[in-house]
Amino acid sequence: MNREEVVKKLSEYGQEHLLKYEAELSAEEKESLYKQILDTDFSVLKKLGKKEEKSGERNIEGLDCLEVDQIEAKKDVYKAAGIKAIQEGKVGCVLLAGGQGTRLGYDHSKGMFNVGVTKTLYIFEQLINNLTDVTDEAGAYVPFYIMCSDKNYGEITEFFKEHDYFGYPKDYIDFFVQDMAPSCDYNGKIYMEGKNKLSLSPNGNGGWFSSFANAGLLDDATKRGVEWLNVFAIDNVLQRMADPVFVGAIIEEGYVSGGKVVRKANPDERVGNLCLEDGKPQIVEYYEMTPELLAMRKENGDPVFNFGVILNYLFGIKELVDIINKEIPLHVVEKKIPYMNEDGEMVKPEAINGYKFETLVLDMVHLMDNCLPYEVIREKEFAPIKNATGVDSVETARELLKKNGVEL
Ligand code: UTP
Repeated sequence: MNREEVVKKLSEYGQEHLLKYEAELSAEEKESLYKQILDTDFSVLKKLGKKEEKSGERNIEGLDCLEVDQIEAKKDVYKAAGIKAIQEGKVGCVLLAGGQGTRLGYDHSKGMFNVGVTKTLYIFEQLINNLTDVTDEAGAYVPFYIMCSDKNYGEITEFFKEHDYFGYPKDYIDFFVQDMAPSCDYNGKIYMEGKNKLSLSPNGNGGWFSSFANAGLLDDATKRGVEWLNVFAIDNVLQRMADPVFVGAIIEEGYVSGGKVVRKANPDERVGNLCLEDGKPQIVEYYEMTPELLAMRKENGDPVFNFGVILNYLFGIKELVDIINKEIPLHVVEKKIPYMNEDGEMVKPEAINGYKFETLVLDMVHLMDNCLPYEVIREKEFAPIKNATGVDSVETARELLKKNGVEL
C-alpha cells in the first residue's frame, strides 16, 4: 500500500495523529491501518462547523393524510390489491438493522434483545412473527432483506442461523452491510479504537439503497420481480411490514411512495412531519417546526401538521433506481463514542464526546415525486424500543405488546 498517499490524505484533513503508533505495528497491522485510511471517506469532516443548510424562509405546506376512516371505507379494495401484489412477488421488505442502539445500551444488535418476560421473544423473532401474519394470509413469502453494519453483520447472520431463521424460509432472507463513516472528537480529530484501528460507525440509514444495490440485491430483487420495497426500523416491535392494506392503498391511489404516520399525541410531539416543501414531499423534524407552522389549522379545526412518521416507508423500486446517484443531506450527530486514550486504553464514555456522520432515510422522501402519508393507529402499530427505561422503552413496548395480545 502506498504510504505516501496515506500521509498526503492525513495532512490534507489534519489527521496525522492516526499514525501515532505506526512504529509499534507489524507489517500486516500497518497495511490494515493504511487501508482503512485510504478507504474511508474523510470528506464528511468538512461538514463540521458548517450550519445545516436549511435556514431562512422555507416553503412548507401540509400534505393530506389518508386517515383511518378513509382507509376503513376502502379497506377491501386496498387489501385485495396489496395481497395480489404480494402473491405476484412484487413486494420486498428491508429491515434497517445497522444502527448501534446506543440509547438502549445493549452490546449486541437490537434485534437480539429479548423482550420476553416468562419466555424468550427476541425483537428479530417478533418482527418475523408480524411478517408471517401477512405471508400466511397471502399464501406467499416476501423477500426479507436485512441491512447490518460492519460491526454486527457476523452476530446477526449467526443469530438467524442459530434460530433457524425463526421459521421463515432461508431462501427469502438475505443480509447486506451498510457503509461506514469515521467518528471524531469535538476538534474534528478522528478517534482511534486501537493502535491500527480507526473509529468507524455505520453511516446512517439513508445509504441503505446504494448499499443494497452494491451488495447485488437490487439484481436479486429485480429477478424476483419485486417492484416495491417496504423499509422499516428494527425498534418498533408492533411494526406491520408488507401490510397489504398499506401497499394496496399506495398502488390504488397511484403514488410512488408512502409513509406510515400516527396521529400526534400533541402538536409539538418529537416526531417528524411528512409534509410538502417546495411542492415535493419532505419530512420536517419536530425541532424544525416554527410556532407559526404548528399553529396552522385546517378548515375542520385540525392542526395541519397533525401526524408523525414512524419509519415505515414503501418505495417504488423504479423511483429508487432513478434517485440512486442523487446526493442526500449528511447530518452531524453528537454521540457517545468509545475510543482509545493517550495511554492506549479503551474508554467507554459516560457522556457524549464527539460527532458521527449520518444520512437519513427520511431525506430520501424529498427525492420522490410524491409520498402518501398513511395513518395507522398508534396503540396497534407503534411500540419503539429506543431507551432502556422511561419513554419509548422496553417497559412501554412490553405493555403495548401485551395489549395487542402478544404473549410475553
Ligand atoms: P436510530 O436513529 O434509532 O438509531 O435508528 P440507533 O442506532 O438504532 O439507536 P441510537 O440512536 O444509537 O440509540 C433508526 C433505525 O435505523 C437503523 C436502526 O437500526 C434503526 O432500525 N439504522 C440506524 C441503520 O440501519 N443504520 C444506521 O447507521 C443507523
